[in-house]
Amino acid sequence: MVDKEKQSSLKKFEKRVFSGVQPTGGLTLGNYLGAVKRFVEMQSEDYETIYCVVDQHAITAWQNPLELRENTRQIAAFFIAAGIDPNSAILFNQSAVPEHAQLGWIFNCVARMGWMQRMTQFKDKAGKNSQNAALGLFAYPALMAADILLYHATHVPVGDDQKQHLELTRDIAIKFNHDYKVDFFPVTEPVIGGTASRVMSLRDGTKKMSKSDPSDLSRINMGDDADTIFLKFKKAKTDAGALPSEIPGLKNRPEAENLITIYSALSNQSIESTLKEVGGKQFSEFKPILAELAVELLSPISTEMNRLMQNSEEIDIILSKGADRARKIAGPILQKTYEIIGMLQP
Ligand code: TYM
Repeated sequence: MVDKEKQSSLKKFEKRVFSGVQPTGGLTLGNYLGAVKRFVEMQSEDYETIYCVVDQHAITAWQNPLELRENTRQIAAFFIAAGIDPNSAILFNQSAVPEHAQLGWIFNCVARMGWMQRMTQFKDKAGKNSQNAALGLFAYPALMAADILLYHATHVPVGDDQKQHLELTRDIAIKFNHDYKVDFFPVTEPVIGGTASRVMSLRDGTKKMSKSDPSDLSRINMGDDADTIFLKFKKAKTDAGALPSEIPGLKNRPEAENLITIYSALSNQSIESTLKEVGGKQFSEFKPILAELAVELLSPISTEMNRLMQNSEEIDIILSKGADRARKIAGPILQKTYEIIGMLQP
């Protein structure tokens, strides 16, 4: 029998991918198209891939403990159902690898207050009541930098909303290297491009599709059944015009642009070629075509996710093996960091 684990540890990768998803309940088409679909694609390319369910990020807002455990398994099930192969990619949950929190503390001491105060996601999430937000919500991007740099990851696939956090990660790596006169942490490449780096709400093409939007009609959830998907696309906001055949025709038509973006990402084609295919159609004709494609691609993922969720032991074993593999990489990098900064390890 081929020992896959041994084989992959022998393989020499120059490029290492790290990314994570929060288990805060509910997964949207935005999470899939903006992130997880690309995690799967990068796995088949020339990268070593590490994917994490970031449960410690989730508790920056209070989580019901029973739900947090289930949601953690659900994200793992989603990763696997979407096509991540846990024998090749390292798949684990963040709290099982304590080195994340350890390096996170060090980065709290590297990042500057001014940098953190610029983070727009903190402002959005804390809202008007920022004095009552958890300190962890404010410090969160430093922990995210630790997630990435703990593996010396070179590439981080994320949706557009994480761009500012990746810039901060680069700033932290540069400042650490400068302060300690080392060339230790890499300056990570964000992998944001792609067709669907920003999937928008189905009710308002200027707002991001999000699990926290009060309207369920604003998003496609990964567990939605076929009827619901058809209904949501049918009710999606649009303008009165027909679809254009060329990109300039999408200007100032955010809802049209969003539906075209979703269709392009689902069908793995560029916006240009989608417009060649569907240009001239009315929305009433295009929406069912889009819904049909979404159902065709998403329903096998939901079915497999549900099957895995019935076998939580199987998920736990995968996560536990993944955490062991992750610690083999993270441990030495943390030790070296401690050495650099002068932490006595008697
Ligand atoms: P999270 O859990 O909010 O989202 C997970 C991933 O989904 C992407 N995403 C979207 N992409 C396109 N359109 C949308 N509407 C949309 N909604 C969500 C997000 O950009 C993200 O890539 N801070 C991160 C988790 C994290 C992380 C990390 C990511 C923690 N540590 C280290 C990369 C590397 C977050 O809250 O993602």
